[in-house]
Amino acid sequence: MEVLLFSSIIILAVTSTVTSCSPSDRAALLDFKAALKEPYLGLLDSWTGPDCCQNWYGVSCDPTTGRVADISLRGESEDPIFEKSGRTGFMTGSLSPSLCSLDRLTTLVVADWKGISGEIPACVTTLPHLRILDLVGNQISGGMPANIGQLSRLTVLNVADNLITGSIPASIINLKSLMHLDLSNNRLSGTLPADLGKLTMMSRALLSRNQLTGSIPSSLANIYRLADLDLSMNRISGPIPAELGNMRVLSTLKLDSNQISGSIPASLFSNPGLSIINVSRNNLEGTIPDVFGPKSYFTALDLSYNNLKGSVPKSMSNAKYIGHMDLSHNHLCGSIPASSAFDHLDASSFTSNDCLCGMPLRTC
Ligand SMILES: *[C@@H]1O[C@H](CO)[C@@H](O)[C@H](O)[C@H]1NC(C)=O
Repeated sequence: MEVLLFSSIIILAVTSTVTSCSPSDRAALLDFKAALKEPYLGLLDSWTGPDCCQNWYGVSCDPTTGRVADISLRGESEDPIFEKSGRTGFMTGSLSPSLCSLDRLTTLVVADWKGISGEIPACVTTLPHLRILDLVGNQISGGMPANIGQLSRLTVLNVADNLITGSIPASIINLKSLMHLDLSNNRLSGTLPADLGKLTMMSRALLSRNQLTGSIPSSLANIYRLADLDLSMNRISGPIPAELGNMRVLSTLKLDSNQISGSIPASLFSNPGLSIINVSRNNLEGTIPDVFGPKSYFTALDLSYNNLKGSVPKSMSNAKYIGHMDLSHNHLCGSIPASSAFDHLDASSFTSNDCLCGMPLRTC
């Protein structure tokens, strides 16, 4: 009985769907379009006619339901339309809350249009299927929606390169599927949620170039998939949690241009996976931990512009490789250990210390 009913519904659907686009979704898309202006390429001119699932630029639907699943509008893309026109995308206007009636939406990408302003409609947090929210590279202002944590399926949250203010909503820690968080280059203030470490699916957390204050939550060390942590160019203070050095897959740690104090935990330098460390331009003090070894492999190690004292650790000369190293502008003293790992470095890596000597500086 149920099977029969089900198959007759399918037959009905197949036979009766000349247009697959849901009329309410079509209306929502047209409202969304009306709030935007893309003057050069006319991409949104394709949003016309009854079937929003066919040839509407950047729109795709679930073929079985005829519901809009993806809006993917990228102002910088490989699309031949951009190549032919010889320009990148430019769009003004704002994101209409009418979007929020597209309740089967899984992907919302409105990226790199440079001119889209207004706020992120708070109602996006009611889109239960949303997996990707990518609004990078616009002029979006206002705060992050307070209820962002409701988006339990969200894997990508990228609102970088906008003008977003306010603090990081506390609810963000409920985004249990989140893998990629990019809030870089906005005007976010306030502190990092202490329990940010609950986002255990996260592999990249990029929060640089904001006005974030407070200290680095040690809970971040619980994010065992985290490969890339960038908190650079904020106003973060307090110490570097030693736990960060125990993270198994962390490979890039950028904490530069903050107000971080205390000494550098030895665990950072003894972690064989961490290959890019930038702690330049902070208030770090103490000595450089003498824990380098044959497994030490750094593509970049920048400790410049701090208050480090003591000598260049002897063990550094055992490092397998240190590509770009900068120890300049500290208070280091003593002789630089001779090492093939340093052969390619010039004086600028060691300059402006108290009394360093030896190659590549003057002989002791
Ligand atoms: C480290 O950060 C500083 C300051 O933010 C920057 O000037 C420098 O280029 C960075 N170092 C590396 C190796 O990227």
